Amino acid sequence: MSARPIDLRSDTVTRPSAAMREAMARAEVGDDVYGEDPTVNRLQQVAAELLGKEAALFVPSGTMANQAAIRAITRHGDVLLASEDAHVLRFESGAAAAFSGVQIRTLGKGGLFDADDVLAAIPPPDHHFAPATVVAVENTHNVGGGRIVPLATVRGIAAAARELGLKLHLDGARLFNAVVATGVPAAEWAKPFDTVSFCLSKGLGAPVGSLVCADAATIDRVHRIRKMFGGGMRQAGILAAAGLHALAHNVERLAEDHANALRLADGLAALGLDVAPAPETNIVLFRSSDAAAFVAAAREAGVLMNRIGPDQLRAVTHLDVARADVDEALERLRRATQAAAKG
Ligand SMILES: Cc1ncc(COP(=O)(O)O)c(C=O)c1O
Repeated sequence: MSARPIDLRSDTVTRPSAAMREAMARAEVGDDVYGEDPTVNRLQQVAAELLGKEAALFVPSGTMANQAAIRAITRHGDVLLASEDAHVLRFESGAAAAFSGVQIRTLGKGGLFDADDVLAAIPPPDHHFAPATVVAVENTHNVGGGRIVPLATVRGIAAAARELGLKLHLDGARLFNAVVATGVPAAEWAKPFDTVSFCLSKGLGAPVGSLVCADAATIDRVHRIRKMFGGGMRQAGILAAAGLHALAHNVERLAEDHANALRLADGLAALGLDVAPAPETNIVLFRSSDAAAFVAAAREAGVLMNRIGPDQLRAVTHLDVARADVDEALERLRRATQAAAKG
């Protein structure tokens, strides 16, 4: 492999642009553990307003955002209901069990579940059963292929959860992809939820950081939990400045990533690959009988992507992948598949 690799493994691989680095270099900073970093405070205010919540807290990662929120709204022994392959279950290293003593029960298929699934999952009030106390929705859904959980479904889940006295958490790591794809504002998506996390370091292109948004009392709890988890940062305004830049400049452009994902999906299908579901945002899922061999051959050809199952792969479009890179990636894969067929 000699040409520059085209990296479709994740939207987390982006590097801060010159303008973002400039904003970081100029950031006014203070000690955020004392609450004295003006840039962090501004980012938290902007995030809370965008999400229509009373308060927000800047944390180092999406994992910490989810896990601090879960810790804040559950008690040990509770059951959290989440989608199949939810990030909070599959990719957060068992944190909900380890730090919050929470069991996770999955609902639905492919990232989607609805109010009926919630109702069916609630155990009778009997001392044999751990109480389900929280429903977590992931939107967009990573392993579901960047799928958008429709607003009507979210509202139905929320209504069922409220009726049963359950709380609601939104893993909105890629919430702004849903916002741009649907035109529904972030605050509308966030409204039914007690706690919402979103990431600056995915499609929005910042190097580090996520926010938890909620009412002020819950954010007070999350603040203490962030400290326990070791997530208190000092002159974090340098990072928050990247986040503010991302929110100001990189939201609308997510539409380009979505268009590129569709282009990539069409191209992969034209190469004979089984692409499903059709991408709704910036993630393309497809199948190949031996995903590990496909990843290795693609890498050799100069295209990086991830295997997410024995026969399933994921390719993600992002800020550092232009439309021409998608075409070039497809051309490299075409040559590689032709060579393999001859070979
Ligand atoms: C849906 C979802 N939630 C949470 C996270 C965790 O974010 P981080 O990698 O910043 O911990 C990710 C990361 O890919 C994700 O896809």
